[in-house]
Amino acid sequence: MKSVRLGKTNLNVPSIVVGCMRLAGKTKSEMNRFIRAALDRGANYFDHADIYGDGQSETVFGDAFAADPSLRREDVILQSKCGIRKQGAGFYDQSKSYILSAVDGILKRLKTDYIDVLLLHRPDALVEPEEVAAAFDLLQASGKVRFFGVSNHRPSQIELLKKFVKQDLIANQIQFSLAASAMIASGMEVNMTTSGAADRDGSVLDYCRLKDITPQAWSPFQIPAWQGSFLGHDSYAPLNEKIDTLAAKYQVTPAGIAAAWILRHPANFQVIAGTSREDRLLDLIAASDIVLTRAEWYELYLASGHILP
Ligand SMILES: NC(=O)c1ccc[n+]([C@@H]2O[C@H](COP(=O)([O-])OP(=O)(O)OC[C@H]3O[C@@H](n4cnc5c(N)ncnc54)[C@H](OP(=O)(O)O)[C@@H]3O)[C@@H](O)[C@H]2O)c1
Repeated sequence: MKSVRLGKTNLNVPSIVVGCMRLAGKTKSEMNRFIRAALDRGANYFDHADIYGDGQSETVFGDAFAADPSLRREDVILQSKCGIRKQGAGFYDQSKSYILSAVDGILKRLKTDYIDVLLLHRPDALVEPEEVAAAFDLLQASGKVRFFGVSNHRPSQIELLKKFVKQDLIANQIQFSLAASAMIASGMEVNMTTSGAADRDGSVLDYCRLKDITPQAWSPFQIPAWQGSFLGHDSYAPLNEKIDTLAAKYQVTPAGIAAAWILRHPANFQVIAGTSREDRLLDLIAASDIVLTRAEWYELYLASGHILP
């Protein structure tokens, strides 16, 4: 499987990450089989969040992992996120006390002493970066967290954190796919009045490349706003036609081509795959070595509905 360097660390990590958001319903034995199938193919990077299944995704993962003596903690990279709270109408919280308590909950559910990567799940409008910095210092000093990053953050929000946070922020997990590529469009429709010209992200992809932050693509096969997968979807007929042609050419699944499109970008993305099926995960891993040509990458981009000025 293709690997990427994780931020400025010296870790080479898999380009296909096992996303655990939709795995809360698995039994312990199903989860054990899923973890082992992933590890057998080199997919040892698992993406969690404290809110997935209200904690159940982490719980069943932790139970399945701990119960199997053949699985060794040091062989896997565990990433989780915190900062979204569900009380009342819901709110975001990057206060020091909440980050610290959230990490303790994550460690307990995952049945581990440390997580490899902690991401702040979403920007908190009320963030006080001094508090984040204090929490990160304590988590690093206690050995509870090895590396830190963010999710869904704009460059200026990362810079604000960096005013006080001294650890490198090694990853930014953002939505990115053939159906959610506004950040590519705004970089090409510069100074135009087209809809694609709107800058919705502050050029976050360029920023990640400049700062050696690994971009992680969440929901790689989903239509934005939870409308299901674009693969095989009638609203994306020209895109699916192009995907199917390339899938036949490269002898991989359509999802493999959609992932290869993300991996072809030189920002060195990781793709956070959300499937709950072993066969689909293994197909994606198999397709990760495909390198689409420059022309194919642009053909897919155009077929997804964008323009080239
Ligand atoms: N940072 C954030 O804000 C954020 C937000 C959302 C998600 N995430 C992370 O990103 C991960 C992936 O998100 P996601 O689950 O929305 O991503 P996804 O991989 O785009 O979607 C997976 C879903 O699509 C279905 N699917 C339908 N056809 C498929 C096909 N041909 N191939 C693969 N899957 C197909 C899967 O069903 P089956 O299970 O039946 O295959 C599954 O329900 C999550 O697990 C989570 O770790 C992060």
